[in-house]
Amino acid sequence: MSNFSFSVLLICLLCLLLTGIAQEVEDEREFDYIKGSEKGPERWGELKKEWKVCENGKMQSPIDMSNRRVKIIAKMGDIKRKHKPCNATIKNRGHDIMLRWEGNGDAGSIEINGTQYYLQQFHWHAPTEHSINGRRYALELHMVHVDPKTNRTAVIGQLYKFGHPDHFLAKLGKSIRSIVDKEEEINIGRLDPREIKLGGSKIYRYMGSLTVPPCTEGVIWTINKKMGSVSHTQVKLLRDAVHDVSPQEHKIYARGKRKAIATRKMTDMSVSVIQDIKLKT
Ligand SMILES: *[C@@H]1O[C@H](CO)[C@@H](O)[C@H](O)[C@H]1NC(C)=O
Ligand SMILES: *[C@@H]1O[C@H](CO)[C@@H](O)[C@H](O)[C@H]1NC(C)=O
Ligand SMILES: *[C@@H]1O[C@H](CO)[C@@H](O)[C@H](O)[C@H]1NC(C)=O
Repeated sequence: MSNFSFSVLLICLLCLLLTGIAQEVEDEREFDYIKGSEKGPERWGELKKEWKVCENGKMQSPIDMSNRRVKIIAKMGDIKRKHKPCNATIKNRGHDIMLRWEGNGDAGSIEINGTQYYLQQFHWHAPTEHSINGRRYALELHMVHVDPKTNRTAVIGQLYKFGHPDHFLAKLGKSIRSIVDKEEEINIGRLDPREIKLGGSKIYRYMGSLTVPPCTEGVIWTINKKMGSVSHTQVKLLRDAVHDVSPQEHKIYARGKRKAIATRKMTDMSVSVIQDIKLKT
């Protein structure tokens, strides 16, 4: 092959690749987090009829856990954590990075009031979706569990402040870097969900919804009151890997003004703080 035809071939290949990438990203974005956008959080309920509850629901998450709304109750043994090591895959969903636990319940469960909710996936939101007294923090991990008998969802939320790197995310750094802007799902082998340390002995508990469309209600939320810590580099990687905000908002975020990211109007719901809980395993 002559040098010239080789170059033409190369250029054609590049064009194919580029258009391919652009389309995938477009198609994938059924909703976004951009302020004022047609698919932004204020509009989710209008995008599809199955998403109506995003707009008219009465138990919509996330919420602000403000002092005036929180009721403290003491109770033992309400929740048991029974996670175990399992193979996992990691995927860039366009608006977040998701770690999926393979098998059906092979990664164990959590038990709430005698019901088993099996671990399905982890995903991260930066900044946090839930706020505490109006303040949002660096990162929020959602550990999503489902009871296969009823399809009811129970989520454990762990919030992080900026500080030392998170040990679990440190293990995923290389895999996340390999899926920046890519839609493929990659195998990451065996991991132990118990490496997410849930310290402390108090939790926030309330009944809410999924925080993304279809915003299904009846979700049991358990949010660890004790925050973890995560480094700026780790949060930046999670954010840079996805497309949930405009470049402008990225810039604002980089300057430390985290409020710039569009959020949904928060529902006024009551929250309990349950004491004497052991989430450690
Ligand atoms: C668990 O049981 C207690 C006492 O019966 C009840 O008040 C609470 O709402 C239940 N929690 C969930 C998440 O079902
Ligand atoms: C749970 O969801 C699955 C998949 O969407 C469905 O096939 C199944 O019938 C549902 N089960 C119940 C009890 O709703
Ligand atoms: C986990 O993945 C490894 C390869 O990464 C495979 O050899 C092994 O069979 C898998 N285990 C299960 C239980 O699927």
